[in-house]
Amino acid sequence: MSDAIANAWDYLRGLPQPTLADLFEDEGRVAAMSDRIEWQAEEGDSGILFDWSKTHLSDELLAGFEKLADATDFRDKRAALLGGEKINVTEGRAATHTAERGIGAAPVVEEAMALHARMRMLVEAIHQGALGEINHLIHIGIGGSALGPALAVDALTRDLALVDVHVVSNIDGVALEAAFAACDPATTLVAVASKTFTTIETMTNAQSALKWLEDNGVTDPTGRVVALTASPEKAVEWGVDETRVLPFAESVGGRYSIWSSIGFPVALAVGWDEFAAMLAGARAVDEHFRDNDGRANLCLRAAFADQYYARLRGCQTRAVFAYDERLSLFPDYLQQLEMESNGKRVTSGGDPVDASTAPITWGGVGTDAQHAVFQLLHQGTHLIPVDFIASIAPGDALDPAHHRILLANCFAQGAALMAGGNMAKDGKDPARAFPGDRPSATMLCDDLDGATLGALIAFHEHRVFANAVLVGINPFDQFGVELGKKMANDVEAGGASFDASTQALLETAGLG
Ligand code: F6P
Repeated sequence: MSDAIANAWDYLRGLPQPTLADLFEDEGRVAAMSDRIEWQAEEGDSGILFDWSKTHLSDELLAGFEKLADATDFRDKRAALLGGEKINVTEGRAATHTAERGIGAAPVVEEAMALHARMRMLVEAIHQGALGEINHLIHIGIGGSALGPALAVDALTRDLALVDVHVVSNIDGVALEAAFAACDPATTLVAVASKTFTTIETMTNAQSALKWLEDNGVTDPTGRVVALTASPEKAVEWGVDETRVLPFAESVGGRYSIWSSIGFPVALAVGWDEFAAMLAGARAVDEHFRDNDGRANLCLRAAFADQYYARLRGCQTRAVFAYDERLSLFPDYLQQLEMESNGKRVTSGGDPVDASTAPITWGGVGTDAQHAVFQLLHQGTHLIPVDFIASIAPGDALDPAHHRILLANCFAQGAALMAGGNMAKDGKDPARAFPGDRPSATMLCDDLDGATLGALIAFHEHRVFANAVLVGINPFDQFGVELGKKMANDVEAGGASFDASTQALLETAGLG
């Protein structure tokens, strides 16, 4: 760690730690800590309000974190990311997901746009019947090749889906059987989504999907497959016709790939225009992230709060609650984005890190989670920063009471976490006491459409990157998942020997 970084941390550790009540004595607190990111929508500007006022970030802490950002060369690292430099140092490649949204080095953006054009042609050809009648898509992929499509399809097709999409990731055949049961093989297309086109779960599920098509009278099953991959030659070798292989760049990371051809099921289900809106919403956040510094950069400001709670308050987890049924899968998506990106134990230079690098991200959907896990948030011994996400416009057409009660609950939870209190009549019963001073942040969307979803995802991508810069790690590799994968493959191949416990389990299950 450089002297400048060590000094910045020493300075931060020495600062006073005001309570939320102290901070709210400042009448300008909410205005100073709430800002919008906006973009052009059909009916005028649309956007998201990011309210970080109920966090403990004081003016002094913000200034201290701005010093830390300078000490970690945040601006240069951001320029390196957006300029397509090889910032994924352990794998020797760039991270070009923003180029998929039009932000990046010109040749990389051009290449991404050409691949999008190819994807658009195939999506529109399928909508026009080029592959016969297609009513269902079974999208097979795992991790970054499944979580984004599952989230976006679930969020954006509540009213209408042009094609009924089923995302299957688990190797447990029960998952694939459920998709088979919901689809008519005569009108089903299969998307095999795998950056590497080698992942055992995906390739096994894909093989079983082909067999299901064949067993159900489809004469040319591979003719019903679309491949979404950064290894197009492997897809062709596997049997997919080149015209139905949609490539994406190797420099787009798996968990950052929803913007590339991995977004094919989204475009097929919601139409190209809505997929393009998702890209545009993400681009609005890219531009905000590129053009603002210090606390005015909302992704960086969020990372300041993350670092404050992780390093100065010892918080191990962060919870995210979507007060919107359409975002039920958002916590799952964020878990991979944050924990696979920043769950690291050494710096980009290979030195051990001296504190936690990523929160354990968890959460759920409001109001359900209130009746399940909020007890611990309000009265447990852990301090857990909470993020709330909600939309001003309702997603339903029922009595407006539904949405009013939903939003009232969302805002009331943040207020209660902060204010605390005592529910006892005499105000003295410790079991009924709420300590308060518990932090939360709120992301309040004007509406939840494609652009907003794109903006929310991109905001978190940049928040993850900003955190990685502040702690000096590489967020773009994921060697941590490789060892387990290799050992599972060793079991499958047979002949490998393991510790006594694992050996006994294998034998008991008939695999030894
Ligand atoms: O879980 C590790 C991982 O490499 C993820 O990062 C990736 O999204 C997933 O596996 C799937 O990999 P692929 O797209 O190559 O099948």
